[in-house]
Amino acid sequence: MSQASDLAELEEQARAAIAGVVDVQGLQETRARFLGRSGSIKVVLRLLAELPEEQRRELGQAANATKERIEECVRARRAELESARIENALSDHRLDVTLPGWIAPRGHLHPISRVFRDMTSFFAGLGFSIEDGPQIETDWNNFGALNFPEDHPSRDTQDTFFVEGGHVLRTHTSPVQIRAMTGRTPPFRFIAPGRVYRRDSDPTHSPAFHQIEGFMVDERVTFGDLKGVLYAFARHLMGPEVRLRFRAHFFPFTEPSAEMDFSWGDGWLEWGGCGMIHPNVLRNCGIDPDRYQGFAFGMGVDRTAMLRFGIPNLQLLFEGDVRPLEQL
Ligand code: DAH
Repeated sequence: MSQASDLAELEEQARAAIAGVVDVQGLQETRARFLGRSGSIKVVLRLLAELPEEQRRELGQAANATKERIEECVRARRAELESARIENALSDHRLDVTLPGWIAPRGHLHPISRVFRDMTSFFAGLGFSIEDGPQIETDWNNFGALNFPEDHPSRDTQDTFFVEGGHVLRTHTSPVQIRAMTGRTPPFRFIAPGRVYRRDSDPTHSPAFHQIEGFMVDERVTFGDLKGVLYAFARHLMGPEVRLRFRAHFFPFTEPSAEMDFSWGDGWLEWGGCGMIHPNVLRNCGIDPDRYQGFAFGMGVDRTAMLRFGIPNLQLLFEGDVRPLEQL
């Protein structure tokens, strides 16, 4: 009976084709080709009508069994393809959770910023507020109003950077005194941290460096108040054992004036200058010196930062190389 061997051959072909498909779409097409409405098995079944009763039943059963086996084969292949697809998806997007982590570099404040923040928060606790001024200053604010005579040596180009138009890079934070006091009425307590410039450059001097200025004006402010504030400040920075030394000095903008040193190990380190604000400075700001007095002080900040963080060379603070700064 040729139809029976046809069925066997058909099944053989179908199995081979199903085994060869690589995706679900190909499987559907293959299934349609063999089992679909105009598929091969239908062609066989259509022939049945012409067969005698006996053969028709026999062949019909054989054809249905073949069809069922091919269906089973399709189902099995479909399951295989499905799980292969999932396997692939998993291995393509594999994430190795045992790999060492990637640590994002963390930024931090520059040591000078940290020292400034510490200093300003200390003075905020004493009721001082923060004043700011520009780094390019007028000659009047940097020198004239601070009672510098026209021929004062620090106005020399040896010390001062001059900017076009008669301005200067401020050589100290003292001009903030002028800005803060002009047009205002005491009492006031101000602190002015900032960057200043001088023509100076070696391992302990940088042409740009940092100072903090403080001043207080009221009707009864004394040199004793100045010393009290400076002692409290020094203890805050350097510990309860620190001692201060005041040496008589001259500044155009204070009278009397002193330079102060703080104790460090067996010796002394220079800290800054201070004094009672000169009557001419108050007058230049429109304040009556017969009614008000005040003290002022100003000191370098970079030395404090170097001592606190153990920085051997001032340049390290300004070179912009983050490697040494990251170690602090
Ligand atoms: N401006 C001075 C300087 O840069 C420091 C200074 C001295 C500031 C005495 C003051 C002061 O306020 O009273 O050398």
